[in-house]
Amino acid sequence: MRILILGGTVFLSREVARQAVARGHDVTCLARGTSGPPVTGAAFVTADRDTGISAYAGLEGDWDAVIDVARKPQQVQDALLALSGSSSHWSFVSSASVYAANDTPGADETAERLAPMAAVDGRYTDPADGEYGQAKAACEDLVRGLGPANVLVTRPGLIAGPEDDSDRFGYWPARLAQERSPVLIPAMAAESMTQTIDVRDLALWLVTGAEESRTGSFNVMGPSVPFGELLALAADAAGFHGSFRSADPQWLHEQGVAYWAGNESLPLWLPEEYGGFCTRSTEAALNAGLMLRPVEQTVRDVLDDEQERGIYRERKSGLSTARETVLLAALDVA
Ligand SMILES: NC(=O)c1ccc[n+]([C@@H]2O[C@H](COP(=O)([O-])OP(=O)(O)OC[C@H]3O[C@@H](n4cnc5c(N)ncnc54)[C@H](OP(=O)(O)O)[C@@H]3O)[C@@H](O)[C@H]2O)c1
Repeated sequence: MRILILGGTVFLSREVARQAVARGHDVTCLARGTSGPPVTGAAFVTADRDTGISAYAGLEGDWDAVIDVARKPQQVQDALLALSGSSSHWSFVSSASVYAANDTPGADETAERLAPMAAVDGRYTDPADGEYGQAKAACEDLVRGLGPANVLVTRPGLIAGPEDDSDRFGYWPARLAQERSPVLIPAMAAESMTQTIDVRDLALWLVTGAEESRTGSFNVMGPSVPFGELLALAADAAGFHGSFRSADPQWLHEQGVAYWAGNESLPLWLPEEYGGFCTRSTEAALNAGLMLRPVEQTVRDVLDDEQERGIYRERKSGLSTARETVLLAALDVA
């Protein structure tokens, strides 16, 4: 098949390109090339999608499938204007962040979405901070304009796996591989879940989605795993024999420790109102062919990747050694 990937230079879209090439497809990636190099075996067109429909002028011929990971509705609108007539299948990588609420365990794809970003005079502005979900919802709607027979919308939750540049999931295996104990963790209720998808499983879902012209909207996530169980898997993989020091979530919050991601955060930790964020139903995707590797394998491979990249490196997500040390000392005083 001739597959066009809008993206292809980083993490998920790069893995999609890698797998599509490995499965014998004729793959072209279009990106600026600033996030990384394209994979060997894929053709690469350098273009900036923020420049409008002219960004697609370097592409030639028709496509059997387009796979797009955009976060900006204007980029999607322009890509559709430029290319929709030349592709029979269009796959859009959306996000579970399109949902309006995160407090309902087991919610499926019929759950209410956030109001999509609206165009003004036919054009979309760049999403502001905090508008990611609304922007993805607008992208979904634009792509759906091609008709239900042609469109696959995939909504992942947290994506984990080798080469993850967000540094979230990898924080835990990397932290447990360090020779420092105790490890600060949020005191979480036994039912506090994590739910991730291995980037390689998600990429395979997208490539087979193109091969099979799969259509519809799907939550694409792995199984819900209690946070404590994930820590145990990471401890096992890392050979960790130290101890954990759990801190009251309210106390952590008061100390300015961030939820979920980013600088000085405890990754994967979520506020209480996100009780359903990691228990979304994936029944539809599993019935449609989603295949998942065991979470243990993801943890082990992420640890290998972390070790290669350096477990003491400066990270985008997680506590720095200095901050964790200060927090542990403050906990002892408290
Ligand atoms: N990570 C998660 O846990 C998570 C969870 C849910 C959903 N998602 C979704 O999953 C997808 C992840 O995609 P990804 O891993 O490939 O990462 P990404 O950061 O979304 O990659 C974006 C791709 O588009 C290209 N790009 C960005 N701006 C561009 C521009 N102006 N012109 C041309 N190309 C541009 C980038 O390459 P250049 O920078 O080289 O141009 C890159 O190849 C995204 O759709 C994200 O919203 C992620």
